[in-house]
Amino acid sequence: MYIRINNFKDIKNIILVSKIVHKVLNYIYDYIKPGISTGEIDYICYKKIVNCYKAYPASLGYMNYPKSICTSVNDVVCHGIPKYNEFLKDGDIINIDISVCKNNYYSDASKMYLVGNVNDKSINLCKVTKNSIFKSLKYVKPGNKLNLIGSTIQNYVSKFGYSVVKEYCGHGIGKKLHEDPLILHYKNNYNIVFKEGMIFTIEPMVNIGSCKTKIMKDGWTVKTIDKSLSAQYEYTILVTKNGYKILK
Ligand code: MF3
Ligand code: CO
Repeated sequence: MYIRINNFKDIKNIILVSKIVHKVLNYIYDYIKPGISTGEIDYICYKKIVNCYKAYPASLGYMNYPKSICTSVNDVVCHGIPKYNEFLKDGDIINIDISVCKNNYYSDASKMYLVGNVNDKSINLCKVTKNSIFKSLKYVKPGNKLNLIGSTIQNYVSKFGYSVVKEYCGHGIGKKLHEDPLILHYKNNYNIVFKEGMIFTIEPMVNIGSCKTKIMKDGWTVKTIDKSLSAQYEYTILVTKNGYKILK
C-alpha cells in the first residue's frame, strides 16, 4: 500500500477541482424536481463540467462506466446509471455523485436531494448519514488512527437503527480517482495513522434496513437486498497540520 502525501501544488490543484465538483452539485439543485429524468440530470452535469469548467467527468469511461455522474434513487445504494426513461417522482430521495478531473487532478463528492415532498423517515436517514461524516471528522488530525472514522460512523448510525454498507468504501484521491488507503465506514482494525497532506474521501452508504446489497444486471447499479432506503454523502478531505479541511 502506498499512501501519497500531497504537496502544496497538489493541494492547490485538488482544491480547484473540488470547487468545480461542488459548483456542479449546487447548480443541479434547481433541476431536482418530480418529472425530470436521471438521464437529463446527467446531461446537464456533463455540459456544465465540460463546457463551463473545461474539465472532465471522471466517471465517464471509468472501467467502462457509461455516464458522467451516478444517480442513486431510493433503494439504490450507489453507482446508479442515469437513464432517460427513469423519472424522479414526488417523495423520492436521490444521491448525485460527481467525480471531476482537471489538470490531471481528481475530486469526488456526492449529496442527497429531496424530490418534492419527502417524508420524515427519508429526511431523517439523509440527515443522520450526513451527520455521521461530521462526527467522524472530529478525529481527523495527524497522529490519530484512521480507523476512528469507521467506528465513529458505525456507532453513530446504529443508534438510529440504521446499518452501514460494507462493500463500498472511501478512498485516497488526487492524482487518480481511487488511491490508497481504503476508508472503511465500519469498525475495523486497519492500522494507519493520519498524516498532514493526506487526501481521501469519506462516503458512507447508510440503509434503513439490512446492510446487505446486490448488483443489478447492468453490472453497476447497487441496491439494498431488502428494498429499504439508502442514503450517501461524500466529501473529499485534506488532513491539515491541526485537523482537516473539507475540500469544496
Ligand atoms: N464517485 C464514485 C466514488 O465515490 C465512483 C464513481 S466511478 C463510477 O468513488 F464508475 F462508478 F462512476
Ligand atoms: Co468516492
